[in-house]
Amino acid sequence: MAFANHEQANEENDLTLSLPKESGLGAAPYLHLFQDFWCPSYYVQGVNNFQKHFHAKDSDVFVASFPKSGTTWLKALAFVIVNHQRFSSFDHHPLLSSNPHQLVPFPEFILSHDLHDKILSLSNMSEPRVLGTHLPFPSLPESITKSNCKIIYICRNPFDTFVSAWEFFTKMKLVSSPALTFEEAFEKYCNGIMGFGPWWSHMLGYWKESITRPDKILFLKYEDLKEDTAFHVKRIVEFLDSPITQGGDSNAVIENIINVCGFEKMKDLEVNKSGDIDNIAEKKNFFRKGKIGDWINYFSPSMMEKLSKIIEEKLSGSGLSFKVHS
Ligand code: A3P
Repeated sequence: MAFANHEQANEENDLTLSLPKESGLGAAPYLHLFQDFWCPSYYVQGVNNFQKHFHAKDSDVFVASFPKSGTTWLKALAFVIVNHQRFSSFDHHPLLSSNPHQLVPFPEFILSHDLHDKILSLSNMSEPRVLGTHLPFPSLPESITKSNCKIIYICRNPFDTFVSAWEFFTKMKLVSSPALTFEEAFEKYCNGIMGFGPWWSHMLGYWKESITRPDKILFLKYEDLKEDTAFHVKRIVEFLDSPITQGGDSNAVIENIINVCGFEKMKDLEVNKSGDIDNIAEKKNFFRKGKIGDWINYFSPSMMEKLSKIIEEKLSGSGLSFKVHS
């Protein structure tokens, strides 16, 4: 990690060391309780820098999510839709030669180091910028909540999210990460301890905001997107006021968008089969099964009962619910 000077490095260490610490599933050996969410240790400073130094533009589009909820898929869809006029050929599309996380960066991750250069590279991105974030709604930089930029949020049923997180984070190259058993990781998850968790407050923060500000936040569920992709892609297109809907062949364009972002298509691309993102996550691990209901192969009856009760208790009265497929 390159720091501008020792003073900055010390400030960063002081901030991180002052926070409560836990082990849990996430993109770092430890999670720190920072502003009411469990922030992976590597990114505490990145979050802090994002909040202090990022300037949203009205044209920005943010893909927001709890980890392992379908972020990669939604980043791909949002990138293709937003850049439809710039990259109209689906045979030579940047998505065929770059992973969605390279095309749609997470500012809270990239601003963890080399702050000045990274701020510059973010402000030089071609507009409209498509960016990602795992931050809970209350921790977003003020310029995002106050500007006219748009947010598309995706969440997933908490059963599959946990299994996907277990399979993903236990394959990460983390130095001195305490090894958790599946049962231990599950207990932590039930207590809200996973990177960017608790998952319930993450979902509810965006859910409530999407109800009060439907022009600002479009709330999606992975299961809905899987079950009727065309319908929800059209919702995204309309939400973003994309000119795609104005053309006579909009259905054909939407079909092409869905195909280029399809699970099997993306998983089979050379660019997604090897190499890693930020030196810690192998690209191939972002494409595992892409199915609804894989949790049934992992959960004991008592785990199922426990998580069902927590979902009921935490989401009760909110209007947000999930079909639990098996
Ligand atoms: P599984 O682990 O259940 O297979 P995220 O992108 O937020 O990290 O979420 C990863 C999950 O989304 C993984 O789920 C992954 O397989 C799935 N996924 C990735 N790309 C997808 C796509 N194009 N369509 C559907 N699911 C996709």
